Amino acid sequence: MNIMVYKFFQKDNYEDFSSGRVISHKSKSPNFPVRLAGEIFCRCLEHINKTNNLCIYDPCCGSAYLLTVLGFLFNEKISAIYASDIEKEFADFARNNLSLLSINGLEKRKNNLMELIKKYNKQSHIAALNSLNRISEYIKHEIKADIFITDILNKNSLGNKMFCSDIVITDVPYGSLVTWSDKTNDPINILLDTIIPIINKNTIIAIIHNRNQKISNAQYNRADKFKAGHRVVEIMRLKDYPEEIL
Ligand SMILES: C[S@@+](CC[C@H](N)C(=O)[O-])C[C@H]1O[C@@H](n2cnc3c(N)ncnc32)[C@H](O)[C@@H]1O
Repeated sequence: MNIMVYKFFQKDNYEDFSSGRVISHKSKSPNFPVRLAGEIFCRCLEHINKTNNLCIYDPCCGSAYLLTVLGFLFNEKISAIYASDIEKEFADFARNNLSLLSINGLEKRKNNLMELIKKYNKQSHIAALNSLNRISEYIKHEIKADIFITDILNKNSLGNKMFCSDIVITDVPYGSLVTWSDKTNDPINILLDTIIPIINKNTIIAIIHNRNQKISNAQYNRADKFKAGHRVVEIMRLKDYPEEIL
């Protein structure tokens, strides 16, 4: 398996996006590197023939840190974000973080930080307010966000959803902080079956997992696979994609 060499996202200071600064951090929620998030998204874009008005979905969204970062970095390209998690607590948290992609949500967070500064005069709150002012510049338009609760290991759970995702990107449970809700042996392959109603042959799916989980779903072809630290990233799409676009 290839070790990932960054092609699109340079080494930089991404601390304005640090979890717990402007974007809220949920305890027991794993952090995701901003540079890696941006790189994976750009690699997804390499495989699709659409560059804007994108609809993206994360079926294991957790606090939606990953989606919120993408919503800032690729604001002009994304028009809709769908996010779901099995736990209500995560979905509520995700709703709050994704609201930062709107003027009202940013304003609310700004007021909240200003109140904290007034009350405690702490350097960390002042730094967060400065970060907020900087990342606000990324917002060129408001992204529609829809957050719902769903068990992605239940194959019928997306049957009634009316959206079609251009990119499905998800950092599935692994490691000690979060685990799959069900001890099934094949959770990622079940997830890939479950998302069929909300994708089409143009959709690109990026799954981030660890080495212990294997992907072999007969309905998908792999377009790319690489290792980034302890993470494995697999990029795939449904089989039978027209030759001329491949
Ligand atoms: C690695 S975390 C995702 C972190 C997320 N990318 C973020 O930025 O905060 C994995 C998430 O999968 C969720 N999960 C576990 N089992 C699930 C299931 N059966 N259906 C949907 N979500 C599930 C967990 O609740 C957890 O929030």
